[in-house]
Amino acid sequence: MTKNPDGADAALERARKLIRPADLQNADPQAQNYIDLIGPEDAPQPTASQRAMINTIVAAIYERLWRPVGVAAFGLYGLSAQKEREEAAERLRLRGNQQVLDVACGPGNFTNFFGSQLSGDGIAVGFDISRPMIAQAVRDNRSSHAAYVRGDARRLPFDDATFDAVCCYAALYLVPDPFVVVDEMLRVLAPGGRIAIMTSYGSEIAPIHAALSLGAKTIGVRIFDRSTFPAIFTAAGLVDIKQQTRGTAQYVSAHRL
Ligand SMILES: C[S@@+](CC[C@H](N)C(=O)[O-])C[C@H]1O[C@@H](n2cnc3c(N)ncnc32)[C@H](O)[C@@H]1O
Repeated sequence: MTKNPDGADAALERARKLIRPADLQNADPQAQNYIDLIGPEDAPQPTASQRAMINTIVAAIYERLWRPVGVAAFGLYGLSAQKEREEAAERLRLRGNQQVLDVACGPGNFTNFFGSQLSGDGIAVGFDISRPMIAQAVRDNRSSHAAYVRGDARRLPFDDATFDAVCCYAALYLVPDPFVVVDEMLRVLAPGGRIAIMTSYGSEIAPIHAALSLGAKTIGVRIFDRSTFPAIFTAAGLVDIKQQTRGTAQYVSAHRL
């Protein structure tokens, strides 16, 4: 592991305090510079896309190579990583002492940027199930405002209404139970907070949707339609729901009153 960036230990302690004591009891004492709620075993990953995420090589090249290729595959030509991060931070209205959760953070490519938008005791917690991804995040993207927790997003280890902003980019289409994950994200979102997701989007034109879904199914990803996430956010009482589709991606954000 690399040397601690200034303040990274304090950031990790702030992240630790957000975890429910009962969940923290199960943390792996061997984990260095992050909190591991799963332990040494990798959970079995049923699909090719999920298996890729626990591959050390994919984790190492994710930020520089894998994601840019994914961005092109989504038809997001011309959208730089920096621009996408800035747009995410805007959707979440990040600032000051906020507590921010980046679900399925991968190697922390968004988490660290979110942290850079905060000040004081503000903390961006990157949360992911993959050990190689979290290890990479700890190496590349730790800071005095960014820290990492390894766990399963289908059961977030935080109390209700813990976070001012909750984000999940480029993961809901590959997690086994995306709606459970979204319910968990909504549970931990505090009143006044913002949520933002980026996931897949299938054309409303039936033959295109069918072709996309078939291709996606073979690698184990899911194609969502336009109405699913706005409907979930509406049912949860969220307001200011904004949706943007670009290529085969959709961005949905909303505000909890
Ligand atoms: C494609 S990466 C997205 C990384 C980053 N958010 C981005 O936008 O580039 C998807 C991530 O989802 C994580 N993931 C998959 N299932 C998960 C689960 N049940 N809980 C937490 N993370 C999960 C994978 O380990 C992987 O790091």
